[in-house]
Amino acid sequence: MSWIRDSTLNWIQRLAVKIVKSGQIPRHVAFIMDGNRRYANKKNVEKVEGHTQGFYKLTETLQWCLELGVPEVTVYAFSIENFKRSKEEVDGLMDLARKKFQGLLDERDKLMENGVCIRVVGNLSLIPEDVQKLIAEAMIITKDNSKAVLNLAFSYTSRDEITQAVKDVVDGVKSTELLVEDINEDLINDCLYTHKSPEPDLLIRTSGEIRLSDFLLWQITSTCIYFAEVLWPEFTVWDLLAAVLYYQRCTYDLRLVAKKVESKHLICNNRITSYICNVYKQRQMFIENISQTAVQ
Ligand code: FPP
Ligand code: MG
Repeated sequence: MSWIRDSTLNWIQRLAVKIVKSGQIPRHVAFIMDGNRRYANKKNVEKVEGHTQGFYKLTETLQWCLELGVPEVTVYAFSIENFKRSKEEVDGLMDLARKKFQGLLDERDKLMENGVCIRVVGNLSLIPEDVQKLIAEAMIITKDNSKAVLNLAFSYTSRDEITQAVKDVVDGVKSTELLVEDINEDLINDCLYTHKSPEPDLLIRTSGEIRLSDFLLWQITSTCIYFAEVLWPEFTVWDLLAAVLYYQRCTYDLRLVAKKVESKHLICNNRITSYICNVYKQRQMFIENISQTAVQ
């Protein structure tokens, strides 16, 4: 199963997409893809099959987002809390990731043709080394693509992300590259895993659960949040369109106008930006080192 799929829409769905596109379209949609195990239970199959169906739904949803004109998507693929699940399930999810990232590298030409940039946001040091290496390679080969961005939150929680950002800031103060007076929201924001992305305009959680599960807590202060009853593997284009219509009502009611997205190009010309540039350089070196490490 490819990451890039052909359209699955019939003519009525295509017409509905066209109508919804006449309104404001979110530039960044985040998904909490919840309900894979309940789906597996309902269909009487193994949990890992529920997650595999969840992956198929992810690829289908990405295609719908492209057709709608949404340029950036972030999905919660594996939370740090998920490491507390049974060994069998965690191993099954890591194996799925291994296969899918290997598949992604095998179809790199298709990804490059479609201009898709893959970013994995999360604490990579917690996952098996061979999966880290595949992820690092996927990020490196697609890093300059800009037609569409897919952020996969993998081994991620917001509390971990904010903790790591605070550590980066503390390191800067300890090494005297930063002053205590330099610390503000922008600096913390620039040290987050997600610093390259605009805040999500719309967050969709499936499966009827009304909670945020430690996902993008810093980033969603002005985000419209849509809870759908459907289990993730059963999510349809109609559910996506309902969520986007909700976003359109939400922005109209609040008179929110999508902020113009400036490309986040950092100029390292003062103490603070020079420090942030160094942090990014070290992160890039970490990714490059992983991609070059021989895995046993
Ligand atoms: C939540 O459902 C889903 C997950 C923990 C995993 C989601 C992962 C995918 C859809 C595929 C990921 C893609 C890659 C590349 C690895 P749940 O397990 O909490 O189900 P439940 O709420 O019914 O218990
Ligand atoms: Mg769940």
